[in-house]
This record gives sequence, C-alpha cells and structure tokens, in this order.
Amino acid sequence: MSPETIRKDFKIFENRDIAYLDSGATSQRPYQVLKAVEEYYNKNNANPHRGTYDLSIDSTAEYDKARAKVAKFINAKRPEEIVFTKNATESLNLVANSYGLENLQEGDNVVISIMEHHSNLVPWQKVTKIKNAKLEYMYINENYEITDEEINKKITEKTKIVSITEISNVLGVKTPLEKIIKRAHDVGAVVIVDGAQSVPHIKVDVQKMDADFFVFSGHKLMSPMGIGVLYGKYELLDKKMTPFLMGGDMIEYVYEQETTFAKPPSKFEAGTQNIGGAVGLAAAIDYLENIGMDNVEKIENELLEYAKTEMGKLDFVDIYATKTNENQIGVLSFNIKDVHPHDTATILSSCNVCVRAGDHCAQPLIRFLNLPATCRASMYIYNTKEDIDRLIMALNKANDMFKKWRKVKK
Ligand code: ALA
Repeated sequence: MSPETIRKDFKIFENRDIAYLDSGATSQRPYQVLKAVEEYYNKNNANPHRGTYDLSIDSTAEYDKARAKVAKFINAKRPEEIVFTKNATESLNLVANSYGLENLQEGDNVVISIMEHHSNLVPWQKVTKIKNAKLEYMYINENYEITDEEINKKITEKTKIVSITEISNVLGVKTPLEKIIKRAHDVGAVVIVDGAQSVPHIKVDVQKMDADFFVFSGHKLMSPMGIGVLYGKYELLDKKMTPFLMGGDMIEYVYEQETTFAKPPSKFEAGTQNIGGAVGLAAAIDYLENIGMDNVEKIENELLEYAKTEMGKLDFVDIYATKTNENQIGVLSFNIKDVHPHDTATILSSCNVCVRAGDHCAQPLIRFLNLPATCRASMYIYNTKEDIDRLIMALNKANDMFKKWRKVKK
C-alpha cells in the first residue's frame, strides 16, 4: 500500500489543503478508526463492569477485546499486563509515583537520558527529591548517540531504575535499548521504556526487549485522544506497587478505615474509563496491522531519507540528525541559520505547511544542544513526497523573506 492510497482514508486532507508534518505532536485519524468509535457509542455504550444488563456486558466485552488487542500488538504475555491510562504522561507518572516512591531508597540512583520528554523527567525529579535519591543523565555524543561507555558509566550498582525513551521526539534518534536494558538488569535495576514515539512507527515486542514497563499514547498512533497504555510485567504490577489513583472499580473490599485492592489491571484503573478511546485504539491497531509494521517503517524510512536529502541541499538550513538513517525514525529537526524557529514556522504555516517549533517538551536536551529551539517535521504513513516538496518550497520562500529583512536591517 502506498502513502498516496493510505492518505485517502484520512478525510481531514479533503477538508484541509495542508502538508501535515506534525504527527509527532499528534497523528491524524483514518475514517476506519472514527467509524469504530461511532459504532461503539451507537451500539454498545454503557459503563463496563457495573451493569448486569446485556448492554453493560457488551461494553465490558469491547473493553476487554481492546486490551487483548493491545497486549498482542506489543507482545505482552497476558492482557492483564495492560493498564489503560489517559496517555504516556499519565503512565509514566503512575510508575514514578507507584513503583518509584515505593521501591527507591535513600542513596539510590535513577538513570534517564538527556533526550527525555518532560513527562519522563519531571516525575523522576519529584520522586528522587522525596526519596533523597539521585537523578543521573546519560548524555549523547556529537552524532546524537548514547555510547557504550556512557551506559556503563552511568548505570551502576547504585542504579535501581532506568527510564529511557525508545525514540527521541526531538531528534527521531533510536536509543541503544538492548544494551541499556541488559546493563540495567545486570545491576538489578528495572527499566521503563517510553514508547510514545516508537510504537506508532516500528514493531515493538516487550518480551523480546525485556522491558519491565513500557508506555505509549494512543493519539500518536491514530486513535482518539485521551487513551494511553502502561504495560508492566505482571509480578511488578501485582506485588511491587500500590495504586496511584483511588476510586471506583479498583478495589476488592472497602471498610470504614481500610481497603483491599483489585488485581491488575483493575487495580490501576480507578473511575469510569475511556472505553470509546480503547475501542478506537484497537481499531487503529487493526489499521496499522493491515498495512504491516514492516511496511510502515519502510514507508517512513523512504520519506525521511528523501526529506534529509532534499533539505541537505539547502545551505541555509542546519539539520540536527544522525549521519546514518538506520538509527532515525520519522522526525527531522532543523533551523534556518540565524532565524528563530518560531519565525520560520510562522512562514511555513503561511504556506500551509504544519511543523512544530519550540523545545518539544525537552528543554534540557535543547539546552544541552545549545540551541534556542528547533523546527521539527515529523512524518507518518499518510505523508507523501509532495508534502516534503511543499516543506522545501516553503523553506526557500522563508529564506528569501529573511534575506530581504536582513538587508533592510543593515
Ligand atoms: N509529545 C508531543 C510532541 O513531541 C506533544 O510534540
């Protein structure tokens, strides 16, 4: 299936004449996902686990089906290892607050990388401060990579938790997960993997990877907003953590002064859940599986290579990317030399080219790279070479305008 054929499933492109290159912020949705959500509300909507009537039982079945689908998609051992949350941010906060607060001791280390999104950084600042533990960073080299030396230096006997992105949302760089996870397990640490930027784009196998926890958001893989996933090894969810949110459906017995909790995943799903979102996520997974994750990766690699080649021809643009493409997925950060990225993005927007400009919720990384911010083009399966051509045309136009302004200023 070509991106041109895939694109026809996304009705937004019939309504908006845009080159949408901001799928790292949120993806667009195909009509198949929207139809599945509509059908759920038209045919099966009720509060699951609460009613004894057929409609509630059917709603429960839809929710369970979605959970099983997610489990299979990332190859979890069992559906009970999948906790539905609001998004990757909530999943990371859940692990930091439940697992982190309960298992860290004074003097322990938590290791993250300098490429983390704020959601995989700020919660660890909070938890390490409370526990008098230390937050350590693995830094990147000039090719935006975490070296073996850095992994071995930072992950030590003191390390109890390593929390690491699989793919940077700013640079599109893949982290050396296999090496990081092996080293972490060798020293007895648990590993949390932030898959927000990977699951939509590459095949993920949590058992093969041997992640202890894995998180992602639905909205970046074409499902409705407000649904996210926390995968956790069952033993950890069951034995090593108490619930993060308290309320309905996560309990076993409630007495006036004490409560016993339900088993995972219910233990972590307090209150009425986003069933429509879970149904949409399941439909998005069907959609991706129909294309095949290998094809998804192939389509995106071709597009990234094209974008890097074409942008590389513009001598007025700085690109922040790895030398080889094999370690980079679907994201390209850049700036027009001596122009603030917000100004560039504004001109691109006037050409109907949508990119994100700013720190991309990764201020420590932007500071480490000594940049004011970046423009970021992030791609998905519905993007075509024409979208990249529009970006290049818009960049040329922006450069012409800035050249004129510079002359006027002189
Ligand atoms: N985390 C999202 C991004 O990278 C919002 O843009």
